[in-house]
Amino acid sequence: MKGQKSVYVCSECDWQSPKWLGRCPQCGNWNTFTEETFAWKKGNSAASSDAASRVRSEKAVLFREMESSDCRRFGTGIGEFDRVLGGGLVAGSVILLAGHPGIGKSTLLMQLCGAVGDSLDIMYVSGEESKGQLALRAERLGVSPEGLYVLTDTSVENIISEYEKCSPDVIIIDSIQTLTSERASSSAGSVTQVRECSAEIMEKAKTDGVSVILVGHVNKEGGIAGPKVLEHMVDAVLYFEGERTQSHRIIRAVKNRYGSTNEIGVFEMTDTGLREVSNPSEMLLAGRPDGVSGSCAVCALEGTRPIVAEIQALVVPSAYPSPRRTADGLDYNRMCLLLAVIEKRLGIRLSSCDVYLNVVGGLQIDEPAVDAAVALAIISSVKDIPVPKNLIVMGEIGLSGEFRAVSSADRRAKEAYRLGFTKIALPARGDDVGRIKINGAEIIPLNSIYNELLLLDTQSKNKEN
Ligand SMILES: Nc1ncnc2c1ncn2[C@@H]1O[C@H](COP(=O)(O)OP(=O)(O)OP(=O)(O)O)[C@@H](O)[C@H]1O
Ligand SMILES: [Mg+2]
Ligand SMILES: [Zn+2]
Repeated sequence: MKGQKSVYVCSECDWQSPKWLGRCPQCGNWNTFTEETFAWKKGNSAASSDAASRVRSEKAVLFREMESSDCRRFGTGIGEFDRVLGGGLVAGSVILLAGHPGIGKSTLLMQLCGAVGDSLDIMYVSGEESKGQLALRAERLGVSPEGLYVLTDTSVENIISEYEKCSPDVIIIDSIQTLTSERASSSAGSVTQVRECSAEIMEKAKTDGVSVILVGHVNKEGGIAGPKVLEHMVDAVLYFEGERTQSHRIIRAVKNRYGSTNEIGVFEMTDTGLREVSNPSEMLLAGRPDGVSGSCAVCALEGTRPIVAEIQALVVPSAYPSPRRTADGLDYNRMCLLLAVIEKRLGIRLSSCDVYLNVVGGLQIDEPAVDAAVALAIISSVKDIPVPKNLIVMGEIGLSGEFRAVSSADRRAKEAYRLGFTKIALPARGDDVGRIKINGAEIIPLNSIYNELLLLDTQSKNKEN
């Protein structure tokens, strides 16, 4: 068609090319190009004057005359959500909430409307569900907020005009991939549409100091569908995760301009919506098997909160020349390193074994303090000797098998004791390990990976007795 131009856009870095490319010359990713069509509108001057009207006349101000109170924050009434946001929603901020289909994004946001909808005006824009569906969900969740406007539309121009009529404090877009703007002519969900629609909404929100929550779909690799720039444009990127077969859900921030990215929020999905879980350790440890090899507990620090989790390892002889290794919730390379340390320092042959690692409950643990528990779970599985149920181990393992100190050892130890662990093994090297005193708990200092073997051996002697 005349006046239409086809262009291929990289979804990772926005590189544009007149023809399809397998590999992006800018970011080097494969298969990231999608075709988009631009219609050249007549009277381009209209567009440029439009663009000119978008330019705000901001004035430079003296830093010392600036007020930080410009950054108003309000609690959402959902404690676990506030925790991830860094203490509440900031006026004028833009949050991107991403998650797999059916994980509960719309549920969380409807509950948010219920929690703050009486004190704030919220506009909920749904491009995916009908008003009837939304009403049904609200009923099931038991929410009937006073100041909630609902709009089921996908045109950004219309959304903005409705927004101007309602002038809400918070605007929720469910989801950004369903919106279309007249500025771009490609289909909804394409890189250009997502970029254009989010830019238009964000600009409005920043000028008026309105908070925006954008729901984002994830692609099959688990990243956010659409242009990579979206993640740079927003103030916070939150992931809503969980295992489909299990009821708990975790929110984590991968980016947050107004708070830490270490905090996680934990929920449980029930018939009546998401329930906050303020003591996740208990939930994660529920149903922990007794007397089975390959399971070891660890206390990880997620932001300010110590969380006790279970690491499971399964080591079996491999049927293939190159053994299979998987690490769910743990770093794959870290696992390989620990396998090598165990093989070299303890002389346990693992190179011909399949190794499967898992953090129970879909938790993701990034800190090295988990090394000790991973190693012990692997050794326990190889030797088929269970780790004592009341034992918890923490510590980073170095390449020569030495233990390195963990941060906040005392807080971790206390949380472990609270959950019934009476044998707490910690790196001997930590400054405060000698000072940790817990009545009723034995603190076991660990110097090297050899000490871990001993932890198991005592158990096997007990077994023989
Ligand atoms: N009647 C019900 N009773 C109990 N749980 C329900 C019921 N209806 C839905 N759910 C739960 O809510 C989840 C769907 O939540 P929600 O629609 O908020 O997900 P979503 O992340 O918005 O999905 P999508 O990406 O499709 O929009 C379901 O997976 C299910 O666990
Ligand atoms: Mg939804
Ligand atoms: Zn690219």
